[in-house]
Amino acid sequence: MAARVVPVEPFDLTVFGATGDLAKRKLLPALYHRMRAGQAPADSRIIGAARSDLNQESFRRMAEAALKEFVPAGDLDQRAVANLLAALDYVQVDAADPAGWPNLAKTLDGSTRVRAFYLSVAPDFFGQICERLQAADCLTPEARLVVEKPLGRDLDSAQSLNRRLASIFDERHVYRIDHYLGKETVQNLMALRFANALFEPLWNARHVDHVQITVAEQVGIGGRGAYYDQNGAMRDMMQNHLLQLLCLTAMEPPAAFEPKAVRDEKLKVLRSLKPIDGLTSVIRGQYRPTATEAGYKEDAGNPDSHTESFVALKAEVANWRWNGTPFYLRTGKRLRARMSEIAVVFKEAPHSIFPAESGWAPPNVLAIRLQPDEGITLSLTIKDPGPGGMRLREAPMDMTFAAAMGAKAGAMPDAYERLVMDVIRGDQTLFMRDDEVEAAWAWMDPVIHAAETASKPPAVYDSYSSGPEDALMLMHQDGRRWRDIEA
Ligand code: BG6
Repeated sequence: MAARVVPVEPFDLTVFGATGDLAKRKLLPALYHRMRAGQAPADSRIIGAARSDLNQESFRRMAEAALKEFVPAGDLDQRAVANLLAALDYVQVDAADPAGWPNLAKTLDGSTRVRAFYLSVAPDFFGQICERLQAADCLTPEARLVVEKPLGRDLDSAQSLNRRLASIFDERHVYRIDHYLGKETVQNLMALRFANALFEPLWNARHVDHVQITVAEQVGIGGRGAYYDQNGAMRDMMQNHLLQLLCLTAMEPPAAFEPKAVRDEKLKVLRSLKPIDGLTSVIRGQYRPTATEAGYKEDAGNPDSHTESFVALKAEVANWRWNGTPFYLRTGKRLRARMSEIAVVFKEAPHSIFPAESGWAPPNVLAIRLQPDEGITLSLTIKDPGPGGMRLREAPMDMTFAAAMGAKAGAMPDAYERLVMDVIRGDQTLFMRDDEVEAAWAWMDPVIHAAETASKPPAVYDSYSSGPEDALMLMHQDGRRWRDIEA
């Protein structure tokens, strides 16, 4: 079944850092897919802005190479590629130098279309670029700004960044991307919770024993050692992606699926998080080398590093709905498999009517799989078919979205496709508001501070394992266990 595509109006999108990794790997392919699908009109303009000495022609060649590399061959069609390339323009600018900016203003001049500026650059440049845009008269009253993490490295720096952006852009025009919010399954979590009457009555401390949120990656930190070692799993993943997943799982039903209502509810969750005392309930780890691959410290280029490539923690949402229901969060690199999921583990049946020989009825688990194979599994206990009396066994009700929708696996749109189109449509629902980012830092700050000042280094774990032993203990001591990390 072909998806219904609602075209947006032609737009002018300026991408700063247009020769960088994110632009090549994600943004240009996302724009290509949306244009090919007929959603982004071909007469839109995508203006690359970067320090490199390129012109329109050479930027188009770079973009063509990026599409060939990052769009699956079966999705590349000549006409659509030509359309995207024809929409591209290039302006050379440097945040530190006023020289190129009048050219950008000239390129944009006269257009009354939606105008968006995507800052795919290091956050140190955010403020300066905004100021240059304003000084060069590139901004219309409705111009939109798109930024992405790291949005500060603690509450103080996040607040000062927010203030600096706010001096030029009204909050209703600022789009802070957390690409996890653009993932199909994450949006599906909201559909599941708020478009079905089935789950909501059970979605609380009375019926839910605990929630597990896992974002496991198989890759190490690769060539990002310098960035990663300054941030670690807590700043790179926990403060943003995992807390956002927690918010969507724990929040109250918003009055409407619209930006203010959704973001207000997420904010309430962040503000309800019980402060964590030092490193109690926080486990950190670093991956070991294998026979053929370097370990974390070597990848980071820092033999004395205490930065974590894995973190697991127990969070509590102190409100009426969730009182006493822990949320266990874990994320790490070089783990057994690439697997991300939210698992809602329900309480056991209050009383068993079956004899002991029937076996144990494990608790029901609703697992919302982000990757791989986005989908939902509900595990139920059933009678083992056939003779032999009442023997109980677990059986999953499994729905892979692509299969359920009749699409081929891997056909789900990338998060950036959705998010870039939302920017153009002017829909902030799936973007983080200033106060949300600050509330997330306010909760993480003491944990990060305790980790950074701890004398105990992170535990070392085997590459391609489930993480440090201590992380297992975090659950065991509560009489619970992590779900397996498996693809
Ligand atoms: C990014 C992190 O935000 O998310 C990376 O900086 C991480 O370290 C990535 O690998 C994971 O995203 P995804 O979409 O591959 O799960």
